[in-house]
Amino acid sequence: MNLILLGPPGAGKGTQAQRLVQSHGLVQLSTGDMLRAEVRSGSALGRRVKEVMESGALVSDDIVIQAIEARIAGPEAANGVILDGFPRTVPQAQALDAMLQRHGRKLDHVILMEVDEPALVDRLAGRFSCRNCGAAYHERNHRLQKEGVCDNCGGTDFVHRPDDRPETVTKRLEVYRRDTAPILPYYRDRGILRSINGMGEMDDVAQAIEGILRG
Ligand code: AP5
Repeated sequence: MNLILLGPPGAGKGTQAQRLVQSHGLVQLSTGDMLRAEVRSGSALGRRVKEVMESGALVSDDIVIQAIEARIAGPEAANGVILDGFPRTVPQAQALDAMLQRHGRKLDHVILMEVDEPALVDRLAGRFSCRNCGAAYHERNHRLQKEGVCDNCGGTDFVHRPDDRPETVTKRLEVYRRDTAPILPYYRDRGILRSINGMGEMDDVAQAIEGILRG
C-alpha cells in the first residue's frame, strides 16, 4: 500500500505517519526529514538547502524528486510507503506518478488532513523534538511523560525547528496555499483524494485514517 499524507505545515502528517509505520509496517518517506539530514551532514547541498528551508520557501523540485526516487526504488519500499511532505507541487506529483509506474507500484490513497490556520500556528509554535532521536512533542498537546526526558530514547536535549519561528510559519502557509494546494484537483479528478478532519485528538485522527485505509 502506498499513500500520501497531504496537508499544510503542522497538520499532523509526521505524527500520523509515525503511527502508520508502527501499525502497518510501512516506510515513512519524509522529504523534510531527508533535507534536514542533508543539512546536518554539512555538505555543500546541505548548506544551500538550509538557507531555503529557513526562509520558508520550497527546495527545488529536482532535488526532492531525486531523493524520493532513490528511496522508492529500494527494497525497503517494497511493502509500501507513506509519503509525508511530498509531493508539494504539480511537477512533483507528475514525477511521482512516473516513478511509481517505472517501479511497478501504484498510489492507493491520498489523504488530506484539514486543520484551520490558528491551530496550525499554535501547533508549530509549541512543537519541539529530541535532539538525539528526533521524536516530536508539543508543549501542551503531546507532553513528555517525565519532565525533561525523551519518552522514546531517554535523551535530555531538545530543539525547536528554526522554520517554526512565527514569521517563517506565515511564509510556509503562504507557500502551501500558492504551490501545494493546486495539487488537490490533480488527485481529486482521479477520485483518490479523501479529506479528514485533522482538528481532533491524535487518536481520533488516526482512526479516521484507518477508516480510509480499510476502505
Ligand atoms: P516538512 O518537514 O515537510 O514540514 P511541513 O510539511 O511544513 O510539515 P511539518 O513537519 O511542519 O508538520 P506536520 O504536518 O508533519 O505536523 P507534525 O506531525 O509535526 O518541510 C520543511 C521544509 O522542507 C519546507 O518548508 C521546505 O523548505 C522543505 N521541503 C520539504 N519537502 C519538500 C518538498 N517536497 N519540496 C520542496 N521543499 C520541501 O505536528 C505538528 C505539531 O502538532 C507537533 O508538535 C505535534 O505533536 C502536534 N500535533 C500533531 N497532531 C495533532 C493533533 N491532532 N492535535 C494537536 N496537536 C497535534
